[in-house]
Amino acid sequence: RLIDQLGCGDELIVVSNRAPCVHSQTGDGVTAQRPAGGLVTALEAVLSKEGGCWIAHGSGTADRATVDANDHVLSEYLDAPYRLRRLWLSDAEVAGYYDGLANEALWPLCHRTGVAPTFRLDDWSHYVAVNRRFADAVIAEAASERPVVLVQDYHLALVPQMVREQLPDAVIILFWHIPFPTPQTLATFPWAQQMMAGLLASTVMGLQTPADLTNFSPARAAIPGIQGRGAAHAGAYPISIAWPARNDVATPGIRDAVSSQFGIAPGVRLLVGVDRMDYTKGLSERLQAFELLLERRPDLRGQVTLLQIGAPCRSALAAYQTITRDVVALTERINARFGRDDWQPVVLHAKSADAATVTACYRAADVCLVTSLHDGMNLVAKEFVAARTDLRGALVLSSQAGAAAELHQALIVDPRDIAGMARAIERALDMPFEEQTRRLRAMRGVVSQYTVFRWAAQLLVDGMCIEASRRITRGP
Ligand code: G6P
Repeated sequence: RLIDQLGCGDELIVVSNRAPCVHSQTGDGVTAQRPAGGLVTALEAVLSKEGGCWIAHGSGTADRATVDANDHVLSEYLDAPYRLRRLWLSDAEVAGYYDGLANEALWPLCHRTGVAPTFRLDDWSHYVAVNRRFADAVIAEAASERPVVLVQDYHLALVPQMVREQLPDAVIILFWHIPFPTPQTLATFPWAQQMMAGLLASTVMGLQTPADLTNFSPARAAIPGIQGRGAAHAGAYPISIAWPARNDVATPGIRDAVSSQFGIAPGVRLLVGVDRMDYTKGLSERLQAFELLLERRPDLRGQVTLLQIGAPCRSALAAYQTITRDVVALTERINARFGRDDWQPVVLHAKSADAATVTACYRAADVCLVTSLHDGMNLVAKEFVAARTDLRGALVLSSQAGAAAELHQALIVDPRDIAGMARAIERALDMPFEEQTRRLRAMRGVVSQYTVFRWAAQLLVDGMCIEASRRITRGP
């Protein structure tokens, strides 16, 4: 084990809002499924090797009683040498901590999109209380004074300090998956001091990009009185995906299979977008850019379809209901304007899609569109690159996604410049095969070199080395 080799820390504890499995109710039983995405893959791989515990909020449609009564389902599903401790939150806790503070305050605070954050004292109180519950679970699960605690994301900013108070020698690593706000923006958050104190009690504060680090550093300097023992090492650790990528989707005939699955006419070229239905993803701007392209290039009508997967999320919140309505309305407008009996310009799949379907869409695409207004990393961009073992296809990528700091060979666009985006889509559709191959080869080099396993290992090694050197400095 890495932990034994470095001799610092005894057991790994992962803490996240989302659990590594989703429970669905089936009659009086449950099924467990792995959520899509590389994070679970990576953290499970690390936990399976190091052993330890994952603490998360139980998620899915099944209720606690049914899940508890069907615990064997979970054991069979997990089949891995680590424990899962599920924290069951009440409806009021979810409304205050998750919907309110995490997603109506911190999420819009951290993303530059024009959606204003909402600050409610009651939400903050729930956030503090739920962070306390997560921290108490860490302390209860810790088998020794020196666990290695890997805390995920903006939902749990106070956990490092709460754990540190009880376990001063713990290695605590917090990874912030979303953009970090500028000091000016952070200063508008009423509980900025408490949040920074929470974060700075970690051993390592991991951010996605050098730009996020540039925002974080002055923010920490501006917070008085918390530079002591808990002065975290902050660094950029861009998250990535597993490599080699999943390879269980056949490539020959993939275009026809995807077209028939989504009711797209055969032979039509494909633009593909895969997103959560979130106002940060630039979905309205993307649709408008496609509309403009069809206006300017009548020859493309009947020839190209935009397949947009928009997985519903956070649907209790007004801002998410609005973006969903806007995307549906724009889709209808474009289809009414240009559509024909045998061709729909936009096919909107406003549901989640399983991993195999998403991979098939990447492989069938002529062009993948990632046009977020602001995004921590955006793993869709990396997943598309990984899926293209055939070295074909083009990636249009927002300059405001963290991935743009690494994937220089994408066609980089300003996600607010609709005309510029239309030109980039046109260019992507016209890109010669040799150029597609050259660009993909370079991007595949980047993604294959820096995988999510390396991301996790780098955070763990840095955290353990820093605590070890502190211990040496302090003496016995
Ligand atoms: C972002 C966040 C994650 C979150 C994911 C999905 O990527 O950084 O922490 O899990 O969105 O959002 P949800 O609210 O559905 O968990």
